[in-house]
Amino acid sequence: MNAGDSLPVGQHDLEIQANREAWQRKPQLRAVYRGFHELIASRLDRSVPGLICELGSGMGSIKEVIPECVTTDLFPNPWLDRQENAYRLSFADGSVSNLILFDVWHHLRYPGTALAEFRRVLAPGGRVIVFDPAISWTGRVIYGLFHHEPIGMDLPLTWSAPAGFNAADADYFAAQGAATRIFWRREEPGRLAGWETLEVSPLPSFEYFATGGFSGPQVGGAGVFRFWRGLDRNLSRWPSLFAARLLVVLKRTQ
Ligand SMILES: C[S@@+](CC[C@H](N)C(=O)[O-])C[C@H]1O[C@@H](n2cnc3c(N)ncnc32)[C@H](O)[C@@H]1O
Repeated sequence: MNAGDSLPVGQHDLEIQANREAWQRKPQLRAVYRGFHELIASRLDRSVPGLICELGSGMGSIKEVIPECVTTDLFPNPWLDRQENAYRLSFADGSVSNLILFDVWHHLRYPGTALAEFRRVLAPGGRVIVFDPAISWTGRVIYGLFHHEPIGMDLPLTWSAPAGFNAADADYFAAQGAATRIFWRREEPGRLAGWETLEVSPLPSFEYFATGGFSGPQVGGAGVFRFWRGLDRNLSRWPSLFAARLLVVLKRTQ
């Protein structure tokens, strides 16, 4: 796949089904994801009234850590709570307290259009929590070499959908660098007017790389993973060299 390419949206569901199979046979991947989900859970603001909701839930595994989370995706898979499209949500205005997007932001061809919809459904003070690839030097090498999706750091950012865009026409788009460019590098700072950026944390995650993700081989057994985790802690001082994951927390201002 090349930067900017458009594949049929059903490609997402093919990957979800394949990922479910990998999930069953990779305990270390499950453990690392549990840690990611715990990190996301720690950033929820439970004082805001409304639903905690995840968009693009895929396998829906976030429920193991946040059981009350409403899981959703483009596809009505039976293990999810609802079918939802980020560009046109079925939630009522102001009815959501926290919206979670785990590895979804980089699939949004029109992030500004989606953010406007998030603003509509969020209660005042509600949060958008984005967890996505971070493109440090290490991220660029590893995601670039071992992941099929383009990084797209030079792809022109298309913030909003063209007039007449229909959410049902959403395609399979991927640019792994999208969150890094918007939130970490702040390439277009004016785009986030109306949002308070509470946190942008680039995090090393050799522990995650060592799982091999959903499609690659795992590097090392359970004992070795303690080493990877320790390494991540030590390398966190040099995010531009080693970050692999970006945690972003936005707050909807009044
Ligand atoms: C890389 S997967 C991540 C799945 C899951 N969050 C995880 O981390 O395992 C991306 C997910 O985003 C979903 N997605 C892509 N575009 C979307 C949109 N416009 N609205 C809602 N979900 C979308 C896909 O269907 C897919 O399940």
